[in-house]
Amino acid sequence: MSTRALIRVGAHSHIKGLGLDEKGKAKFVGDGLVGQLKAREAAGLVVRLIKEGKMAGRAVLLAGPPGTGKTAIAIGIARELGSDVPFVQLSGSEIYSAEVSKTEVLMRALRKAIGVRFREKRWVLEGEIAEFEPHYVQHPFNPYQRVVQKAKLTLRTKDERVTYTVGPDVAEEMISRGVQKGMVIMIDKESGRVSVLGMSEEAAKELGYDIGRIPKVPVPSGPVEKEREFVWTTTLDELDELFHKQRGGGGLASLLFGATEERKEIDPETRAQVDKLVKERVEKKEAEIIPGVLFIDEIHMLDIEAFSFLNRALESELAPIVIMASNRGLTKIRGTDIVSPHGMPLDLLDRLLIIPTYPYNAEETSEILRIRAREEGIELEDDAMELLVKYGTEISLRYAVQLMAPAAERAKSNGRNKVTREDVEAVRERFASIEESIQHLREWENKFMK
Ligand SMILES: Nc1ncnc2c1ncn2[C@@H]1O[C@H](COP(=O)(O)OP(=O)(O)O)[C@@H](O)[C@H]1O
Ligand SMILES: [Mg+2]
Repeated sequence: MSTRALIRVGAHSHIKGLGLDEKGKAKFVGDGLVGQLKAREAAGLVVRLIKEGKMAGRAVLLAGPPGTGKTAIAIGIARELGSDVPFVQLSGSEIYSAEVSKTEVLMRALRKAIGVRFREKRWVLEGEIAEFEPHYVQHPFNPYQRVVQKAKLTLRTKDERVTYTVGPDVAEEMISRGVQKGMVIMIDKESGRVSVLGMSEEAAKELGYDIGRIPKVPVPSGPVEKEREFVWTTTLDELDELFHKQRGGGGLASLLFGATEERKEIDPETRAQVDKLVKERVEKKEAEIIPGVLFIDEIHMLDIEAFSFLNRALESELAPIVIMASNRGLTKIRGTDIVSPHGMPLDLLDRLLIIPTYPYNAEETSEILRIRAREEGIELEDDAMELLVKYGTEISLRYAVQLMAPAAERAKSNGRNKVTREDVEAVRERFASIEESIQHLREWENKFMK
């Protein structure tokens, strides 16, 4: 079996960005996106506003019929923002979970979408190990066991050589991590935590290995003891979880049941505590907040309670940018009898930038299908593609995209590696589009309910 078959191809894996030029103008085909030029240019402007911090508390709505690239464009936005900016995806129906309340699901998603970058200066010892001699004594309770009591450690840089006596914690950690002469390590002075940076280039040469699990690093220069800046990025949600565990944890029960006792709801005090800590650190310039994006697909699935929660959340100082997608026109707001555009309350609609998306023409459909075929490693004969384009424009783009894989499977079981028109016709007859499926169920219902 080829490895290719093992790669799961997501429906939007071909999208690498928004495909815009330096001026923000959309190319017909760019970064895997085709057509829908105005929507992509609008999305590009949103990306610029986000990067300049001018989108806080606002929201975007991608509005258009199914299969017009709303999710595709949201993914394009995520790619443009880069991996540093959190991008969280949630489908409207996911807020209805058995374990936690709707608002908790939303709250969690909102806080996942806010990154925090901590910068911390710490004193460390860094150098190549020139000497490491643990000193063992007998275990106080178990005469058959030896324990490390202390160790002599000599660290070397290009300019200095210092010998230390380290206590049992550090010595033990070094032993358990398999530390040996020639390795370059860093020890956090305050906590005693040891990190192995790699094998020194000189030692690696002497030991005669080029590559292995441990990277090769140069021997550091300067003093062994120095102040270093550490940067770590996390999210408000991760901090919530950390604080939550610390509060509830510690007891024997949490040790025994720690793995099964999943966090349920996080209490507001814990979140307030996290916010306070983050704000303090930001004021001291030891942290910075990276507002990310929360993408809520199928927004009409939210009910009035969820909407009002979301609306309030957008007002808070630590709010991410919310991008929503809807394929509904005028419809009832869930949980009410009020009919409203996209099934959304007016106060939320008021703060939206709305980006419309439109159905694709044959040329665009054909280009999108070609890109998807390449992405899935499927070869199609010209008249097979022609037929798929026809289904794509007449039925739906998503249906045409989805027919591709079974058509290729049929070709394969008939000993061909190229999909023919006949393959496409065959799968067309065997798989229903959503619209057809609904129709089918309606007829079925009539027959049985009389
Ligand atoms: N403009 C486009 N360029 C490239 N691929 C697209 C484009 N629009 C949609 N697609 C692809 O077509 C399929 C259906 O589009 P999708 O984004 O799911 O539509 P929607 O969210 O509006 O229902 C997906 O595989 C998507 O990646
Ligand atoms: Mg979608």
